[in-house]
Amino acid sequence: MSVHKEFKKITTHALQAMKARGERISMLTAYDYSMAKILDAGGVDVLLVGDSASNVMAGHETTLPITLDQMIYHAASVVRAIERALVVVDLPFGHYQGSSRVALESTIRIMKESGAHAVKMEGGKAVQDSIERVLSAGVPVMGHLGLTPQSIYKFGTYTVRAKEEAEAEQLIKDAKLLQKIGCFAIVLEKIPAKLGKKVSETLKIPTIGIGGGQHTDGQVLVTHDMLGITKDFHPRFLRRYANLYDVMKEAVEGYITDVKNRDFPNEKEQY
Ligand code: KIV
Repeated sequence: MSVHKEFKKITTHALQAMKARGERISMLTAYDYSMAKILDAGGVDVLLVGDSASNVMAGHETTLPITLDQMIYHAASVVRAIERALVVVDLPFGHYQGSSRVALESTIRIMKESGAHAVKMEGGKAVQDSIERVLSAGVPVMGHLGLTPQSIYKFGTYTVRAKEEAEAEQLIKDAKLLQKIGCFAIVLEKIPAKLGKKVSETLKIPTIGIGGGQHTDGQVLVTHDMLGITKDFHPRFLRRYANLYDVMKEAVEGYITDVKNRDFPNEKEQY
């Protein structure tokens, strides 16, 4: 199946043009060079160096422990692989909630040391100062509302957010604020589809949903989940496009069998 590849290089403006003409935006996470090369060759529009690397790559229970140095390492590896996709990097927990100065310094390190194109921050009004300061330095910012995993200890669970009217209204207010101050797009995570639709219709900037329903302007999934490399994660919003856990395990088992049986290497596979 061919994908739409009108843009040679995806920019934040290209994403806004896509929304304007009704073309959906595809986004996936990436944390390393080899995977990013495949995703970029497949034509994905945006690669998110998510702090979900904390779970997926490092095995932590939450996104909180990942450090700025680790995010920069992942981001630089991804940037070296891409030719077309826009690369957005999560500012890790603790690098923008307390001080806009720290947010700017951390962003500058990400941009200089990885070569990424934009950063993402979770939250609305509460992190407005940090977003504005980063924007004032000329760095594009993607917002993130709804379920914001860096606040997991406040929420207590990973269940759907903004089901109640008050929280939904606050989310709409925050989304309008993020647009007003200059965010180029907003991730909407795990919210009712009806709310995803309302926010997407209200805003001019694109919304990218993960569990935000079918009306957001784009979709994002954690690559390891959609490829079936992770096994024990079954949220309703996740569609698996492959079952690589089993494919890879079988390959490893085949290799071990061949080594044990002295089938590998054979005569042609040696010097
Ligand atoms: O870190 C991440 O992977 C994310 C996505 C879930 C949007 O923020």
